[in-house]
Amino acid sequence: MVKTTNQSEVPSQDFRAAAHERPVPRISIATFLELPDTGTVLQSAAGDRRLSKAHMTVQLGGVQAAVEHFTGQNTPNLLIVETCAQGDDILTELDKLAAVCDEATKVVVIGRDNDVRLYRELIRRGISEYLVAPVNPLQMIETISGLYLRADAPPIGRIIAFVAARGGAGASTIGHNVGWCIAEGLKISTAIVDLDLPFGTAGLNFNEDPGQGIADALASPERLDDVLLDRLLIKRGEHLSLFAAPALLDRDYEAEAVAFETVIDQVRSATPCVVIDVPHVWTPWARQTLAAADEVVIVAVPDLASLRNCKNLVDLLKNARPNDTPPRLVLNQVGQPKRPEIPAKEFGEAIGIDPCVTVPYDPQLFGTAANNGQMLGELQPNSRAADAMQKLAGFVTGRAVPMPEKKAKLAFLPNFLAKKAS
Ligand SMILES: Nc1ncnc2c1ncn2[C@@H]1O[C@H](COP(=O)(O)OP(=O)(O)OP(=O)(O)O)[C@@H](O)[C@H]1O
Ligand SMILES: [Mg+2]
Repeated sequence: MVKTTNQSEVPSQDFRAAAHERPVPRISIATFLELPDTGTVLQSAAGDRRLSKAHMTVQLGGVQAAVEHFTGQNTPNLLIVETCAQGDDILTELDKLAAVCDEATKVVVIGRDNDVRLYRELIRRGISEYLVAPVNPLQMIETISGLYLRADAPPIGRIIAFVAARGGAGASTIGHNVGWCIAEGLKISTAIVDLDLPFGTAGLNFNEDPGQGIADALASPERLDDVLLDRLLIKRGEHLSLFAAPALLDRDYEAEAVAFETVIDQVRSATPCVVIDVPHVWTPWARQTLAAADEVVIVAVPDLASLRNCKNLVDLLKNARPNDTPPRLVLNQVGQPKRPEIPAKEFGEAIGIDPCVTVPYDPQLFGTAANNGQMLGELQPNSRAADAMQKLAGFVTGRAVPMPEKKAKLAFLPNFLAKKAS
């Protein structure tokens, strides 16, 4: 259900990713468990996007196995042990572990004894956390990230990635419109990041000269600090900025997946809402960007190729993000004259996800908006398509999004083309 928000709140602050949703830093974690079921839970946590930078090993044998393993060896940043012992026996077991544990290692214990006195005693002895079994993957992720989150750590933004099930389905257009609705309707500071370096349309769609934008950042991600980011981002209104793609073909755009990750991390550290326009390519960085997003929106047209690709994408993402909500499905360009279409209901049944919005085929409106460099809500706020964007913005933010006020601005030539022509 879409939650309404009080406009007097400071929405940008409470929109950011919750503390436990923050990615865990590059730490080593060793787990020694008693039961295979707990092992399965830890394995699921280890595969989670929030733990993708950490390195976790999962072994059976409990505290005893941990003691044997680490005798004469350095212990990792974090040690998670499970015990089936009760009461004082737990303390005796853990004393043996303390004898082989480095001082800097944090220890989390999973036990069966639900006793507050035991909990206090363990914390007093320097155990970082005591959890009562059975545990679940999200609880483990939350516990681990809680241990590594500094109280003064700045909050990070929430990432919404848009991807097309097939080329030209409309992912960029819809991503840009939704980003605009969030920025203008909810007044949440939003950055639209165009990862389609050679062909991206964020500059065109917002009628802005893209400059080098994200290409410069990806070329030397380690240089990207708040000052450089501010220089590379294009302001498009009070709450919206664009990290546009140069859309030039005079160079190759080769960057490692880790460069994309670094740049996106930097943008989210400065902006509460980050909309990523992921092009229709299948590269390590595209895959990683989708797997790491807080929310993924797949845009499909109602045809067979979209259906097949969509199914593959959904299966892959469900696998890669076992502890997240499944991606959202948008069916776009519905009702194109003379084109046979797969009905929305059948499309949704085949994928196992109902489309959360369907967007009508409206070449007049979309064509004019693209040519003017305007968003649908700026051009025709009362249209069905603009309404669909507003609804989708509501779904991805969990809030009712008011339609931004219409600003009188009609350009006949994109600003930067006009500048070039003069
Ligand atoms: N509902 C619609 N009705 C009519 N035209 C549309 C609709 N949605 C998108 N378009 C048009 O389709 C074209 C392709 O859209 P867009 O660039 O957003 O697709 P994409 O999925 O990002 O494609 P690419 O694979 O190039 O990244 C654009 O010209 C856009 O204006
Ligand atoms: Mg695109």
